[in-house]
Amino acid sequence: MLTILLLTLFFLWLLDTHCVSAAGQIPLTSVAASFSLTTSTVIPFPSATQSASDASSFITSQWSLSKGHIQNGGSNVAFVDDPFPNSPAPGATVTDSGAQWYSLWNTTDGSQFQSMLLSYELAFDSNFNWVQGGKLPGLRGGPDVNNCSGGAEPNGTNCFSTRLMWRKYAQGEVYGYMLTPNNMCSDSNFICNSDYGVSIDRGSFGFETGHWSRITILVQLNNDSPIANGNIVLYFNDVQALSQQNLYFRTVNDFAIGGLYFS
Ligand SMILES: *[C@@H]1O[C@H](CO)[C@@H](O)[C@H](O)[C@H]1NC(C)=O
Ligand SMILES: *[C@@H]1O[C@H](CO)[C@@H](O)[C@H](O)[C@H]1NC(C)=O
Ligand SMILES: *[C@@H]1O[C@H](CO)[C@@H](O)[C@H](O)[C@H]1NC(C)=O
Repeated sequence: MLTILLLTLFFLWLLDTHCVSAAGQIPLTSVAASFSLTTSTVIPFPSATQSASDASSFITSQWSLSKGHIQNGGSNVAFVDDPFPNSPAPGATVTDSGAQWYSLWNTTDGSQFQSMLLSYELAFDSNFNWVQGGKLPGLRGGPDVNNCSGGAEPNGTNCFSTRLMWRKYAQGEVYGYMLTPNNMCSDSNFICNSDYGVSIDRGSFGFETGHWSRITILVQLNNDSPIANGNIVLYFNDVQALSQQNLYFRTVNDFAIGGLYFS
């Protein structure tokens, strides 16, 4: 279903700076500061292109994978030259036609992440066919690293995931595996499916072809009280595209955000 998808990934949890540019664009540093995010990391990229076997070895050894391996699609990734050099993306580029892994970001002091901001750039081929839809990287967490995808539902103690999806006509959404209390599914911003994830704000932004775009997604877990006060905010090309409050990711406190879910 997915033909060519190019991703340049970099993570941010940045230190404070204040500036706001024109046209509603908010620099990443300001987004991070506004959510009091104080530490950051960047996923390493190779300095030269790499074919699939080298690329999957690089990712396996450098990207802190859950269980130490790519779950599937390792032969579908490669590091390639920038296909859209007039719309530059920082760093090297990984090409993917369907793969899944979970990159963990660990704290140095053993504390757990309650909020995380993920930022990456992506580009679709000029003639990309959107068909029915496809998934894009997001965040996941909780002790269970297997479920919360492919129809395996969360139960409040095991996991959550918040990937992105494109749908028909390049409509963008956040695709979440999370609990849906308080009649959330009757809200027109949500499309619930008891067998799969929840679509949040479908069409609140549109993906574009032929050049790089920046995705930035913030997830804040709900308080462990527990009450449904979690948040997701998404920025497309540094402009806020969606913001949802009153979300419910967990019913217990021994549950944190783990890192990047590439799927
Ligand atoms: C992070 O923790 C996981 C699970 O304990 C481990 O597999 C992984 O190697 C760690 N990553 C780093 C960069 O230390
Ligand atoms: C969670 O994942 C495990 C391991 O893959 C599986 O055995 C279990 O059935 C899953 N649970 C649910 C609720 O899908
Ligand atoms: C939630 O799911 C996990 C498997 O992912 C299971 O081990 C656990 O018992 C479940 N908890 C409840 C309350 O159903």
